[in-house]
Amino acid sequence: MSGAGKRFSKLQVFSDVELEVGEREVLAIIGPSGCGKTTLLRCMNGLIPLTEGEITMEGEAITSPREGVAMVFQHFGLFPWKTVFNNVAYGLKLAGATRAQIDEKIPEYIKLVGLSGFEHYYPYQISGGMQQRCGLARALAVEPRVLLMDEPFGAVDAQTREILQFEMLRIWESRPTTMVFVTHAIDEAVLMGDRVLVLKGRPSTVHEIVEVDLPRPRNRATLLLPRFAELREHVWNTLMADARQAELEVIR
Ligand SMILES: Nc1ncnc2c1ncn2[C@@H]1O[C@H](COP(=O)(O)OP(=O)(O)O)[C@@H](O)[C@H]1O
Ligand SMILES: [Mg+2]
Repeated sequence: MSGAGKRFSKLQVFSDVELEVGEREVLAIIGPSGCGKTTLLRCMNGLIPLTEGEITMEGEAITSPREGVAMVFQHFGLFPWKTVFNNVAYGLKLAGATRAQIDEKIPEYIKLVGLSGFEHYYPYQISGGMQQRCGLARALAVEPRVLLMDEPFGAVDAQTREILQFEMLRIWESRPTTMVFVTHAIDEAVLMGDRVLVLKGRPSTVHEIVEVDLPRPRNRATLLLPRFAELREHVWNTLMADARQAELEVIR
């Protein structure tokens, strides 16, 4: 992505965003609410166009949603009238898979995310955490080379969030894909990312990229490493310098 900018009429959301994501790399993007994280992901997915610069994948400009890229949404994005099975199968169906291929593949992904036994439930009959497992299975089922995650655990309670974070790490270890993981939680960014990109400012831009030199596989023990605490503190300071400044301006 180079010189990337996005404007909605008078609002310049971000500008001069330069970033590159390596194959099988997890890039965590963190920034305050409203800084344009979702907008950036939607541009990467080709759902909306940039107003400046360009985004390429494997050397080709992204101008519309393309094969090989899947997105997991903050609010799950499931079809309420479809069962878990049919929600998970949706992406594959769109891609033109046959019934036989779907019947063979979908149970594997439902099992991977721990939803076996719930195939015939509707979204309203399962918890938020389970709905997001379903959203994740739907994205994984198309076997994407790039996975775009928009605060995937932002809408579930704190305990469920922790469980899903470690499940996600386990799933990623079993099939590492390139991932852009957007979050506003510092712990989560450091836990998931190989690098953490801090988006800040108005319009926002890349403020810093922090290398996360924590060993993989990562798990609960990672949270106890002194290096984890150091990195979290570092990202916290980078983010908060601004928040405090903004607060002071409001007081004045
Ligand atoms: N379709 C749109 N039209 C106009 N403004 C938008 C649109 N989508 C997002 N915005 C604005 O862009 C800014 C960034 O939004 P968003 O990308 O959702 O931020 P984040 O995901 O970081 O919370 C917000 O001020 C939001 O109101
Ligand atoms: Mg958002």
